[in-house]
Amino acid sequence: MLFPSDEWINVMTGTFLKDSIVALEDKGLRRHMRRLSGQQGREVIFDGRKVLNFCSNNYLGLANDPRLQEAAIKAVQQSGIGTGASRLVCGNMDAHQQLEGTIARFKGVEACLMFSAGYMANIGVIASLFGREDIVFSDKLNHASIVDGIRLSRAEYRRYPHCNMEALEAMLKNSSEYKKRVIITDSVFSMDGDVAPLDQIVSLAKRYSCWVMVDEAHAVGVMGANGRGAAEYFGVEDEIDIHMGTLSKAAGSFGAYCCGSKKLVDFLINHARSFIYTTGLPPSIAAASARAIEIIESDLILRKQLWTNARYLRDGLRRIGFDTMCSETPIIPILIKDVVKTVEFSKKLFEVGVLVSAIRPPTVPVNTSRLRLTVMAAHTRNDLDCVLNQCQNIGRDLCLL
Ligand SMILES: Cc1ncc(COP(=O)(O)O)c(C=O)c1O
Repeated sequence: MLFPSDEWINVMTGTFLKDSIVALEDKGLRRHMRRLSGQQGREVIFDGRKVLNFCSNNYLGLANDPRLQEAAIKAVQQSGIGTGASRLVCGNMDAHQQLEGTIARFKGVEACLMFSAGYMANIGVIASLFGREDIVFSDKLNHASIVDGIRLSRAEYRRYPHCNMEALEAMLKNSSEYKKRVIITDSVFSMDGDVAPLDQIVSLAKRYSCWVMVDEAHAVGVMGANGRGAAEYFGVEDEIDIHMGTLSKAAGSFGAYCCGSKKLVDFLINHARSFIYTTGLPPSIAAASARAIEIIESDLILRKQLWTNARYLRDGLRRIGFDTMCSETPIIPILIKDVVKTVEFSKKLFEVGVLVSAIRPPTVPVNTSRLRLTVMAAHTRNDLDCVLNQCQNIGRDLCLL
């Protein structure tokens, strides 16, 4: 029998698949896909309804910027659609080389390597660099792709309490038997919106002869005077061994980079499986990303507007009485704790024209369900006031205030 019959599939998997969905449903944790029509912007058509968008990572509004569209269209006309092969076979195109050159110059490092996504970059970089004889110190709230990279690497995995430098130091003190040691952290934490103390992390790394890898997914384009990320903000760029970041958030495009020394990039080209065994990014995406980096470098007003908006919304929410946790960035959680109330809050906001996602376990720890609001530079004062008013009304209805 080449193909299993439907009946066989039902017998073997039917109960398992159904039971696992029912179990999620019972806990209020079942996820559904919803649908966006048209372009990403401050206003979107979501499930057929026009709503204010307060849950995308398109912080600078570049995902629908005509300059990026123009760069992508030009690249399509010059180089076509698909890359046709992995980069090491015959898929290494001009647009990839140009983008890697642009990012290396922007970040002030020797070399850069593009991956197809942030997830692919983290699993490929971590699993290729570290192994059984090594130890990885990872912030407890690091992104899932870092966690999966560490698991794949088979290195000893130590999670330190979120941003707790005393606990990290205590772990570092007891790790001399390992060959390579590395501290890995998000710079901006994607669900909490707070920032890792990179200045303290690099000084601990120096004291204990440790490498440092930083994931700047939510910081590149957002933090630092020139938008290079939190490492720029803290003035510690030269002390970080492995810089990783995505083009899928503030840059409004897709894909991710890992950059640092030439030796590092050469190593990754030869060992990172999620780089080697996959087709290269489409040239149109690479060209749009390079244009985004140029805009990030030159348009300081856009970044300033983003921070003005973030401060206004966060201050407003705190004044109303919401717990916005330790947010310091355009990612602003409203801690609700209860799963059902969090989903209800998000639903009610949608009904009044505001799109905000409900974040539940396993994305966040149990009993910390929250709304996650993200601010864009393009949001107007009216948009922000509208969200504040609606959050206050619904928060009262749900007895949260
Ligand atoms: C901190 C962090 N790292 C990595 C990723 C993965 O990036 P990508 O969406 O490009 O796969 C994300 C985003 O979801 C993230 O928030």
